[in-house]
Amino acid sequence: MKVFVVYCHPSENSFTKNMCDAFLRGVTDSGNEYILSDLYKMGFTTDISEEEYLRDANYRDTPEVAEDVRAEQEKINSSDAIAFIYPVFWTEAPAKLVGWFDRVWSYGFAYGEKTMKLLDKAIILCSAGNPVERLRQFGLLDSMKRVMFGDRLFGRVKQTEFVVFDNTSRENELREKNWDANLQKAYEKGKTLFL
Ligand SMILES: Cc1cc2nc3c(=O)[nH]c(=O)nc-3n(C[C@H](O)[C@H](O)[C@H](O)COP(=O)(O)O)c2cc1C
Repeated sequence: MKVFVVYCHPSENSFTKNMCDAFLRGVTDSGNEYILSDLYKMGFTTDISEEEYLRDANYRDTPEVAEDVRAEQEKINSSDAIAFIYPVFWTEAPAKLVGWFDRVWSYGFAYGEKTMKLLDKAIILCSAGNPVERLRQFGLLDSMKRVMFGDRLFGRVKQTEFVVFDNTSRENELREKNWDANLQKAYEKGKTLFL
């Protein structure tokens, strides 16, 4: 089985990078495979162009999607599952990942006459500076889940899982204290993804 991992963090010096590496190790240790899109490293263009906007907004399947978008769509359609790994920025994914959805979820692929494969599973692993109780307090956790599962992934995957690694801001002593246990958890999520 194969998982397509969409990883989005601007720095290798981060908890999120370590968490991504642990997840990938879990995937391969369970005898499965992955394809990785590291959006910052790839310099993936995430501003939708006017041409793309007019195509998608008018429900047109011409012109053809750009080559970089097509490549991402092929990665999806050659996989069984998808994983999104990112830090929470202002109760959302980083703008680069949001822009990835703007372009890759194109008309004729993700909506309209869909050509996107129905995936077995989507897992989201995100790091949050805040404690999870604080994210719950104002319904922020719920909004993050709703946007991802109620909109972007709705009807496109069979099973979903949202995992938050909280208290990971650099001034929080729990970041270091929970570091190994969190990486072990990410590893297990990779290892058991297809069970
Ligand atoms: C621009 C920016 C916005 C952030 N917004 C949030 C937020 O809305 N909620 C939250 O819990 N943490 C927020 N954080 C904290 C990040 O999620 C935190 O940096 C990350 O989880 C720490 O892991 P890292 O070492 O991988 O960056 C924000 C951080 C930055 C830099």
